[in-house]
Amino acid sequence: MAQLWGGRFTKETDELVYNFNASISFDQKFYAQDIKGSIAHAIMLGKTGIITLEESEDIVNGLKGILNDIENGDLEISPKYEDIHSFVEATLIDRIGDTGKKLHTGRSRNDQVALDMRLYTRDEVLNIKELLYGLMKTLHSIMKENTDTYMPGFTHLQKAQPVTLAHHVGAYMEMFKRDYSRMCDIYERMNYCPLGAGALAGTTYPLDRDMTAELLGFKGPTLNSMDSVSDRDYVIELLSALSTISMHLSRFSEEIIIWNSNEYQFVELDDAYSTGSSIMPQKKNPDIAELVRGKTGRVYAALISILTTMKGIPLAYNKDMQEDKELTFDAIDTVKGCIALFEGMIRTMKVNKDKMKASAMNGFTNATDAADYLVKKGVPFRDAHGIIGKLVLYCIDNSKAIEELSISELKSISDVFDEDVYDAISLETCVGKRNTIGAPGPDAINKVLEINEAFLNSIK
Ligand code: ARG
Repeated sequence: MAQLWGGRFTKETDELVYNFNASISFDQKFYAQDIKGSIAHAIMLGKTGIITLEESEDIVNGLKGILNDIENGDLEISPKYEDIHSFVEATLIDRIGDTGKKLHTGRSRNDQVALDMRLYTRDEVLNIKELLYGLMKTLHSIMKENTDTYMPGFTHLQKAQPVTLAHHVGAYMEMFKRDYSRMCDIYERMNYCPLGAGALAGTTYPLDRDMTAELLGFKGPTLNSMDSVSDRDYVIELLSALSTISMHLSRFSEEIIIWNSNEYQFVELDDAYSTGSSIMPQKKNPDIAELVRGKTGRVYAALISILTTMKGIPLAYNKDMQEDKELTFDAIDTVKGCIALFEGMIRTMKVNKDKMKASAMNGFTNATDAADYLVKKGVPFRDAHGIIGKLVLYCIDNSKAIEELSISELKSISDVFDEDVYDAISLETCVGKRNTIGAPGPDAINKVLEINEAFLNSIK
């Protein structure tokens, strides 16, 4: 057991207590952020004269050496320390002697851990933005290649009206654009530095909080020391945004699973992104899509967990808050993995345009357009709806699509029908004439593609 705080105690900590309390098994994940934060603190201590410049330099060099050695694999993070903060400080003292003991001047582990968690999550927000950018680029290419790939659009998972694959994928593009913008918002709001808040009430040393904030790339210092050490809103916001990303990926995965099924065959997943069965030789399973869908649960769990942990904590720091880490780290890693794998899976999947088109052509996806045809000829919409309903029944009885009926069959149901009906209800017309903003028609989609292209270039 290696603790920073033995002075006041007359007994060793019980071993079970020690293990229950320790966080090094998981907070070692932000060793780099911890050291970076300490370097900024040490520089500031030197420049403000709280310690000498020479001491500051010794500490900074010592910390840089520790970072280097951990990264090279020359220094192993020992589980005998309570947390990563204790490990780094003890190693520093070990290496540079008594000067190392001055590093913690004007600092508490409470503002230290608040800083580390912010630095870590801030870095990960950038990584997630990068992954979302890659995913959106892939969606954009799929859209560009499929502006005339007809497919049925569904409501209630029943064929509704024809759309294109570009339009369907475009819906997800909008979701991921919002996810991206959520990451930008979160970054802005979290980008204030809690270092210097001390245990909860600041310190009497003349710390320069502006300086440490600037050294660490923050917009400025946080404004209330009690809030600084006990705020985990940014973790909650991040987990909420990650939950939304997971929900989007999960919905899309569900569709890929359906599209890839034997019944649909709209797409075929690449062999590299599918798996087999140990017993059924014919199987090629969409395991990646299923796992992405399945992992949504643990991301939501992280959000619910931190919300629940935080709800009853009085100001300021309480040890409950140590629980902010494990599930957050897991959720971040999970979502990063899911975005990357999902991107590869859809980039490599084969689109079966013929199957999609054939499916759009049966199932009466042009029934609304047939009713609209009658309306344009003067039939009130409610009557037109009834006529087409009858027509659909007739088609079902005779196993035909609306456009397969002869003009005399059509006229037997309503004499308003004319030869021009075939053009009016063709797939090309049904999709091609829908050109209001956001609709699947080519003019509308091309405008969206331009906007998306400009957006992707602006965040490149
Ligand atoms: N491991 C602790 C955490 O993650 C570090 C802060 C400890 N502070 C304290 N007062 N015990 O929250």
